[in-house]
Amino acid sequence: MRSALLTAETISSALTTNRIGSAVYCYEEIGSTNNEAKRLAMEDCPDGTLVIADQQHGGRGRLARSFLSPKGGGLWFTLVLRPNIAPTEASKCTLLAALAVVKALRRTTGIDCGIKWPNDILVNGKKLVGILTEMSADMDGVKYIVCGIGINVNIRREEFSEEIRDIATSVEAELGEPFDRLALLSAVCEETERAYELMLKEGFAPILAEWKTYSVTLGQAVRVIAPDETYEGVAIDLDEDGSLLVKTEEEIKTVLAGDVSIRPRDN
Ligand code: BTN
Repeated sequence: MRSALLTAETISSALTTNRIGSAVYCYEEIGSTNNEAKRLAMEDCPDGTLVIADQQHGGRGRLARSFLSPKGGGLWFTLVLRPNIAPTEASKCTLLAALAVVKALRRTTGIDCGIKWPNDILVNGKKLVGILTEMSADMDGVKYIVCGIGINVNIRREEFSEEIRDIATSVEAELGEPFDRLALLSAVCEETERAYELMLKEGFAPILAEWKTYSVTLGQAVRVIAPDETYEGVAIDLDEDGSLLVKTEEEIKTVLAGDVSIRPRDN
């Protein structure tokens, strides 16, 4: 069974938020909601604009990977945010979004999921959600951030290709039945609004503290694959900007979101 088609009207009436989803653009199909969100951001769409599609033909992930986004199978959407922060702080929005999504998923579906730094949500080691944050900035600071979120909702286990069946999952695959996408989207928007307004009011510290309680990365042995080096260590903490601190045999390294792949270390 496939979910009912999403429309701007059904979404707007399901949302309980003020800022997040203040404008809603909904498409039956699109290349990438991140690209469309950037276009709308350049046309001055408001802070919190939601761009969503039932299907993406060119869904993009981090590190130039593609992101599978089949028709009716998930929530493929992007939020346009306009926080008053420096470009170097943009990755805070990735962590904020991951926190909001993990809380919404746990609250509405009951699935025991956690955050793999910086931007994946996993269930028993399988990927349920990916987040891709991109920004436009100039000397004065961030002009806009687009935070693209892909949640696998109603994809059956057998619908994942054999290649990714062991590393990807969906809400339906975990629960054994389809789930209401609108209810989940509404919860994600609520949690995002709560976290975003908290960050604007009190700074990043409370978001970071809460993020850590859902982490599946901290305390783990990891392999860091950076552009110029690969090393192993233990993920011990995040610094105040959300960068990962990895203790190797020689030193503590600071890993910036966006620069690296983090993998569990082989033993
Ligand atoms: C990743 O896992 O590397 C990030 C995946 C992000 C996918 C979402 S789906 C909605 C938005 N549009 C895109 O093209 N990508 C993001």
